[in-house]
Amino acid sequence: MSAIENYKPLKGLPPLAGVTDFADAAEPGMSVEECVDRLKRFHYAMHRTWSICLARLTSEPIYELKMGLSHHAHLAAEHVTLLRDRVAEMRHPPLGLDKVPHVSLEGFFDEILMSKSALGLVTGLYRGALPAVLEAMRRYLEDTNLLTDAPSVRIFKIMMPEFESMIEWGDTAISALEKEATVEDRAEMETWMDELSNWLESAGGLDGTDELDGDIATPVRFSGGDWEYDKIPQRDERFPDPYNMGVHAEEFLYDDRFEEKDKVLMMFYKRIREIDVPEMMAPIMYEMVNATGDEEKGGHPWAFYRDLTRQLWDEARHAMMGEVGFAKLGIDWPKLVMVNFTWSLGLNEQLTPQERHAVLWFIEQGLMNKTGKRFEWEVGKASGDKYSALIQDFDWADEVLHARIGRDWYVKDFENVKEAADYGSACWDKVLSGWEEWKKDGLTEHRNWWPDLYRTACKLRGDEPDPEVEAFDVNYNETRADLQRVSASG
Ligand SMILES: [Fe+2]
Ligand SMILES: [Fe+2]
Ligand SMILES: [Fe+2]
Repeated sequence: MSAIENYKPLKGLPPLAGVTDFADAAEPGMSVEECVDRLKRFHYAMHRTWSICLARLTSEPIYELKMGLSHHAHLAAEHVTLLRDRVAEMRHPPLGLDKVPHVSLEGFFDEILMSKSALGLVTGLYRGALPAVLEAMRRYLEDTNLLTDAPSVRIFKIMMPEFESMIEWGDTAISALEKEATVEDRAEMETWMDELSNWLESAGGLDGTDELDGDIATPVRFSGGDWEYDKIPQRDERFPDPYNMGVHAEEFLYDDRFEEKDKVLMMFYKRIREIDVPEMMAPIMYEMVNATGDEEKGGHPWAFYRDLTRQLWDEARHAMMGEVGFAKLGIDWPKLVMVNFTWSLGLNEQLTPQERHAVLWFIEQGLMNKTGKRFEWEVGKASGDKYSALIQDFDWADEVLHARIGRDWYVKDFENVKEAADYGSACWDKVLSGWEEWKKDGLTEHRNWWPDLYRTACKLRGDEPDPEVEAFDVNYNETRADLQRVSASG
């Protein structure tokens, strides 16, 4: 028996604070340098995953995929943060986290970014990239000394279950998309997965631990490399009238003549309409990072992107809360509620990323007064619909966080709050609504869809429609001067 096997803790108590056993702790494991090298590759992989989610979510028409990409952009940003912090604990600056670890690893992620279809994107991310990272994380835990490197082990144990759930989501999404795919599409995916593994192989594996030998196939650019970033929002068939600005939700909400139980419908609409905030926030970040190719040099530290991505995910959650609200009532929202994209379209097309960020903050700080989020929560409570009260409670809490994020990252660049607000307001004033042109071009009739929604809701509740409520007919073209013509998300 070796000395270490003979060694026993007192009274049979668990050894080494529960991190491992003596035999394992006595193994050599990896040096700090080896650990940092692998951690930097994980960091690169998750930074690229984050950036790909942002690059694709605005132009991805399918709502469920848009929401999934919003969620995973947030998780990836959290993983980037954990990995950055750990590298910073082990090394003095400069940490070199902006360096590409291997040119073929860059090629691997470029290919996924440029994938030509939704099926290609999810296949690349969830069958290619994330399983490769997860496998490399498992290898890291086998190779490292669990005692000497316990802080890294801890962050892997936080990240790995999130990877498992992201991959599971991706697998289900792939199976669903494959049902509609042609035989050629599927064959193309197989070829593409082979190409992706060639890229990884020639990078020495995701973590760089594989031996490189002469037999590795030279990777080819399956995408053709002709991808261009697209910040124009796209929607699927459940959004048949995306230019429709025929129902002014805020005018209804703040009108004393109407009852809370009816206002709940307008609030569900306002929530699901928040789908346009991720569509508008993703390009702010994507363009800022790629304007310089390096977020550190772009004037913002990583924490800026991390906070904004958290906010992006909250906005996606708000949209899904609205979706659940309609589903719960049995309202067929794709038929009865015309969820538009005019806000994200107008801002993305007409403003710079900095100006869009100013507008976002300007709108969100406006939600903090009496007629904002508190009012919506009170309407939810008074309505008797407990679900509406619940989501408005969290919507409010999230918006308070967003106002803080805005103070931390936007207001700080101005002399005072008033100047920040004036600039945000001026930027918003620049955005022109295409109300008349859209109508002239046959893109929308700005149809008032409220009466149909209201009558359906009354029927489901067993109520007799009130003619005054049914007659509500205010659109965003005839709005009050203090509310912008472009409907404000929030
Ligand atoms: Fe917000
Ligand atoms: Fe919001
Ligand atoms: Fe919200």
